[in-house]
Amino acid sequence: MATVNLQNISKTFGEVRALSPLDLHVKEGEFFSLLGPSGCGKTTLLRIISGLESPSSGEVRIDGSNVTALSPQRRNVGIVFQNYALFPHMTVFQNVAYGLEVKKMPGSEIRRRVEDILGKVHLLEKVNTPVPLLSGGEQQRVAVARAVVVEPRILLFDEPLSNLDHALRIETRAEIKRLQREVGITTIYVTHDQGEALALSDRIAILSKGVVQQIGTPDELYFHPHNAFTASFIGHANLFSAIACREYFGVQGLTESELLAVLPEEIILSNNSGKAKGKISNKEFSGSSVEYTIDFLGQSVKAHRPSSEKSFNGEIGSEVCLSLDASVQRKVKYE
Ligand SMILES: Nc1ncnc2c1ncn2[C@@H]1O[C@H](COP(=O)(O)OP(=O)(O)OP(=O)(O)O)[C@@H](O)[C@H]1O
Ligand SMILES: [Mg+2]
Repeated sequence: MATVNLQNISKTFGEVRALSPLDLHVKEGEFFSLLGPSGCGKTTLLRIISGLESPSSGEVRIDGSNVTALSPQRRNVGIVFQNYALFPHMTVFQNVAYGLEVKKMPGSEIRRRVEDILGKVHLLEKVNTPVPLLSGGEQQRVAVARAVVVEPRILLFDEPLSNLDHALRIETRAEIKRLQREVGITTIYVTHDQGEALALSDRIAILSKGVVQQIGTPDELYFHPHNAFTASFIGHANLFSAIACREYFGVQGLTESELLAVLPEEIILSNNSGKAKGKISNKEFSGSSVEYTIDFLGQSVKAHRPSSEKSFNGEIGSEVCLSLDASVQRKVKYE
């Protein structure tokens, strides 16, 4: 277990500025995610932490010591990639044991450790199975076991679940979370999926175009975003201008450089006549809620209502009245 501190880290590739100078402090045992859209610099930052890439400026510190000039091997970090990168001609046991054999550990100790970690990822019964015969989710759990078994100081994941279907993603992410809790290892996890980051992380750094937008707990980022990017990326929030707020929702006090961020579940819909009229352009039933898309002042507004709600009935093409609860006062800056 270790802390990770990044000081003034930046990266340019020729003309491309992949990362603007940033500081990041990951605590001991923390599950920390780097979240942002494609091309925002997540993989670059993870590779700099691992030593696979060198930064254009700044320092990487693991447990207080400066590792910026050290090779990946000497940093003692475990990495799990999207494509598993397992040895295809080997069994589960051989894949997981590999790193321990490189360290010339005695055979009995290797067996003990491999069986222990395979028990933790629920793969003990597959110990002698060749990896091509495993499902995608099982292969990814082997990759996680292989990274953890050598007891690295930190564990790094780069979009480890993107090759899996939806159900397996949910199942495998729960396994990763459980294992991380159990072994207590400091983890940095890259994803572009906000649901995944919210479900897994102690804290999240949101990146856009190589710039850290905000760092916080899932709850802080969801309910208290600082800017429009974070609000829409994390909570799919609707953003209303000062004028729209004043004219249609009776919300005062926004400056011209602020927007009101309203979560889809905070939009109240009714069949009443009111000032804020919109037209339903789409409606999707998702089990617990109904997700409406509403054309309102040239904006596409998202509203999620509990499917048990009986006070409102709206079909595609029908007119609807929008309102906000008085408690919605989430002002955010333009990006
Ligand atoms: N080796 C490289 N040479 C030149 N440009 C690069 C290199 N690696 C990354 N980049 C550029 O740096 C930026 C950040 O890339 P990076 O791979 O870190 O993004 P990402 O957030 O991981 O995206 P994705 O979600 O698609 O994996 C992109 O504009 C990318 O094209
Ligand atoms: Mg990437």
